[in-house]
Amino acid sequence: MTDAPFKSKGHGNMMVHDWVNSRALATFRAKKGSYVPGAALAKTGWKGDTLKKVWLMEKRGSGYDKENGDWWYAQLNAAGKVEKAGKASGCIDCHGGADNDYVFGLKK
Ligand code: HEC
Repeated sequence: MTDAPFKSKGHGNMMVHDWVNSRALATFRAKKGSYVPGAALAKTGWKGDTLKKVWLMEKRGSGYDKENGDWWYAQLNAAGKVEKAGKASGCIDCHGGADNDYVFGLKK
């Protein structure tokens, strides 16, 4: 998890935290190479002390969405209601421009 929240460039200018699971960590740190299936990344979006959104990305097996790097996406509101899930085109359109395997990562 990020030490301090930072202002997102892509997620509605919210203050955000990033979380990565153990399968994603090495690639997230190296910022190169493809993520392995089961790698998962999450972003939480905050207004002040209030959680507003949760965004998820999980690498699926080869063939899930071959043209778009086999990522599964989801967006949840603060109550846990799923607002988007799957091969979400809005997410893909923007994340397709990321430096490494659809993941932007943290700026140093
Ligand atoms: C307008 C562009 C844009 C859209 C649309 C977008 N993102 Fe992002 N996303 C970003 C940027 C830029 C970052 C890098 C950190 C930041 O500035 O927040 C990011 C970071 C993330 C991260 C942390 C991993 C990483 O790539 O650094 C997750 C998880 C994520 N987004 C999920 C989603 C999901 C799920 C959707 C669709 C519901 C989505 N995003 C839509 C631009 C976008």
